[in-house]
Amino acid sequence: MFKLWGNERGHLWGEKCSAPPKLYPGGQSKIARVIAVMSGKGGVGKSSVTSLMAVNLRKLGYRVGILDADITGPSIPKMFGVKRVPPNQGLLLPAISQKGIKIMSLNLLLESEDEPVIWRGPIIAGAVKQFWTDVNWGELDYLLLDMPPGTGDVPLTVMQQIPVDGIVVVTSPQDLAVMVVKKAVRMAGIMETPLLDMCKIWPTLPAKMWRPS
Ligand SMILES: Nc1ncnc2c1ncn2[C@@H]1O[C@H](COP(=O)(O)OP(=O)(O)O)[C@@H](O)[C@H]1O
Ligand SMILES: [Mg+2]
Repeated sequence: MFKLWGNERGHLWGEKCSAPPKLYPGGQSKIARVIAVMSGKGGVGKSSVTSLMAVNLRKLGYRVGILDADITGPSIPKMFGVKRVPPNQGLLLPAISQKGIKIMSLNLLLESEDEPVIWRGPIIAGAVKQFWTDVNWGELDYLLLDMPPGTGDVPLTVMQQIPVDGIVVVTSPQDLAVMVVKKAVRMAGIMETPLLDMCKIWPTLPAKMWRPS
């Protein structure tokens, strides 16, 4: 399949260019597995599935982190009831939930949680990169990335520059959602990121399934 890196188009005009460089996690971070949770559409349950997966992995005794890559619509801190990151000089430290899940989200850095983030795409993608390079995650067995909806700047940056081991795609049963979600699946194929699972959310799941502690 034809693979189009962001700046590869330059080849058409005779420019020498290559794929963007891979980024490395900051500080003493050692992260065994990175899994991105994606969907084409918003509101289908990505953040709920991310949280549920994190809680499940934690219950199994793994060291788990969540990088909230949904910069303009962060919902992970509220789901876990965390408000601020611990004060630190130098690299940022993630907040830690009651059950020991490490969390980094833009909302943990804002003065008030309802402050809007009015940034253009590349700045937003830059913030996500910094959550990977400038946060001291420590040692983790799993880092889950809660992605924003769609196939825009952030998913592209994440798939090109962060070593994602696989993606989990979330959809709701409606035709419209399934159609848009297929775009995310195809994007993962084009970027050669393995699709680990498809998760169809039915609104009849018991509440405890999607309300983590
Ligand atoms: N299984 C479910 N059953 C009922 N409501 C759900 C379920 N999963 C998520 N929701 C609700 O749907 C809304 C969107 O979920 P969320 O996980 O924030 O989606 P996304 O991250 O894709 O935007 C939330 O209000 C959430 O509480
Ligand atoms: Mg979300």
